[in-house]
Amino acid sequence: MFLTKNQEKMLEGEMGEVIAINMKLIVKIGEINEAEKLIPIKSAQIAGVSYFTVGEAIFSFFNLFSKEKVKVKVPSWLNPAGMDRENWEKMGISKKFAEKQFQIIEKYKEMGIETTLTCTPYLIGNQPNYGEHLAWSESSAVVMANSFFGARTNREGGPSSLAAALTGFTSEYDFHLTEKRQPTIKVNVETNLNSLSDFSALGYWYGKNFHGETPFITGLPQLSVNEAKMLSSAMAASGSVTLFHVKNLTPESDITSLNNIKERIIFSESEKQSVYDFFAQKETDFDLVAIGCPHASLVELLIIHNFFEDKILKKNVKFWVFTAQKVSHSKKFQSIQRFLERKGVEIFTDTCMVVSPIIRTKYKHILTNSAKASKYLSNSKQTKVTFKSLNHILRSVTE
Ligand code: F3S
Repeated sequence: MFLTKNQEKMLEGEMGEVIAINMKLIVKIGEINEAEKLIPIKSAQIAGVSYFTVGEAIFSFFNLFSKEKVKVKVPSWLNPAGMDRENWEKMGISKKFAEKQFQIIEKYKEMGIETTLTCTPYLIGNQPNYGEHLAWSESSAVVMANSFFGARTNREGGPSSLAAALTGFTSEYDFHLTEKRQPTIKVNVETNLNSLSDFSALGYWYGKNFHGETPFITGLPQLSVNEAKMLSSAMAASGSVTLFHVKNLTPESDITSLNNIKERIIFSESEKQSVYDFFAQKETDFDLVAIGCPHASLVELLIIHNFFEDKILKKNVKFWVFTAQKVSHSKKFQSIQRFLERKGVEIFTDTCMVVSPIIRTKYKHILTNSAKASKYLSNSKQTKVTFKSLNHILRSVTE
């Protein structure tokens, strides 16, 4: 692989041992994927934050870095943690877990990483630009960056996104290259998508059936950012999809070629319904509603707020919404939160139903409008999940 003089110096340890370790990782990944060179990145989004998912192993990783005070070279943000930084006790998180979680966040902060703790950096002012190369790691954010914003990123792991942040480079392969971004499956949507969960169902069904294949989707209305994030998260979760094309939405549609299309498929009402059926349960009693996978936007919070105008939450139902802390800083949010709290709805920031340990240990039957959350939560034997539209959920848990 071609390396510039500066990159060679980094690799040989002239800029310190920690930078050399990280450069080795970037180069190794590049060699495995037959990259010809490294490219500078504009930003990094780093997963591997929740103590629930990374465990004690993360501390040995940090120890490796502790000899030198290294700082990230590009704007870098963190994925959700295992708890709300301010309201962890209210969530039921133990003090022991909280201490470990704060230590992890602090270690990342020392490296100059913004402790945003969200999978939707683009909802809090960190939107990537068309054509920029990135090293993002949260799978739904990766699809959004590629498909909605037209930036270019592979689906990085936690260590590789951190290595890219610390060196400022990633290897040029796969979704950084125009020829690797071309669609291979054409999907025509022949049913109405009436809710955010319908977009989630489309994404889930597609990913499950066409693992890793890039779709060109037709028959969709103009997608909002909320619809695109539901579609992105579900196809990434069920099928490791990294990019989708939708005419008049995906910014690079003018350079998209349909020459590589190998299959044409239809997504109709029965395919959509099959996802709801897959995550249906006989039991109608549930103990937690979990909304905000990916993290909820202000618009979604407003929809919930408006529904509760003349309703209250039924007894014995907990209703949790997850969002980014920065969303919670707006005045509009604060009035929404005060209102919803009076109705029994709790809003947590910095974490989510999947990366927090408390959901799976404390709650037995969870109702959500996210196919991605449904997939991950149902991996646990003791947790049942029902996937429904937000409107259906709101109608069934209020009076
Ligand atoms: Fe985000 Fe957690 Fe879902 S990280 S995409 S809310 S699983």
